[in-house]
Amino acid sequence: MRKPMMAGNWKMNKTVAEATALAKEIVELTSGYTNVDRVICPTFICLSAVKEAVGNAPIGVGAQNCYWEESGAFTGEVAAAMLAGLVEYVIIGHSERRQFFGETDETVNKKIKAALAAGLTPLVCIGESLAQNEAGETQSFVSGQVRGALAGLSGEQVQSLVLAYEPIWAIGTGLAATSQQAGDICGGVVRATVRELHGDAVAEATRVLYGGSTKPGNIAEIMQQPDIDGALIGGAALDAKSYGEMVRITSEVYQK
Ligand code: PGA
Repeated sequence: MRKPMMAGNWKMNKTVAEATALAKEIVELTSGYTNVDRVICPTFICLSAVKEAVGNAPIGVGAQNCYWEESGAFTGEVAAAMLAGLVEYVIIGHSERRQFFGETDETVNKKIKAALAAGLTPLVCIGESLAQNEAGETQSFVSGQVRGALAGLSGEQVQSLVLAYEPIWAIGTGLAATSQQAGDICGGVVRATVRELHGDAVAEATRVLYGGSTKPGNIAEIMQQPDIDGALIGGAALDAKSYGEMVRITSEVYQK
């Protein structure tokens, strides 16, 4: 069985002091729920402080981006290899990075390869825009993104990473996909594409998260979908109580 994951994407929020305090609160509120993988992803400048605040608690820490080169004249970038040793996870290809910072399937693929080579677990984001959704292009577009992201990876590498289906129209809008819609795409498109590429065993072992306006009020229904293995949480992850509540609910769903 795939272990559920609640990953918080803090985006460009929280000062070092605020992030440290939030991490400490999250450790306190979620430490009992060991059947759920908990991951928090603050900004680069908060990673050290958050890692220290987490201490020995079983909570993963992740960055929100990385660069594929190991070092050199790439002003403003941080290498995957530099994150290794400090954190365990890295979000790659979030729609905001694709939209505002020119990331493409090709650069996403390079970053995934660099992250894996550095021993990090990539949380790889894919998802369609509202226009694509309305034009009936969700399946072909999302499947194409999965293929682009995973190009050249072995089955073993694919099942070691985490995919996050995040329809762009559901991110930060309060308009979550229905659990049925989300489950259908996570299973019928994302996992199905992994199955086409690497067969049943790899598809069944690979975790697929849903992201987009998840919150305590809708997480139970989302987590009941058999093909959804967790959530990548934006807004609701900035509040320890709502994030903690989502971890608690997920833990309960998985005890049944
Ligand atoms: P949201 O963001 O939960 O605020 O919609 C999700 C994400 O962008 O990862």
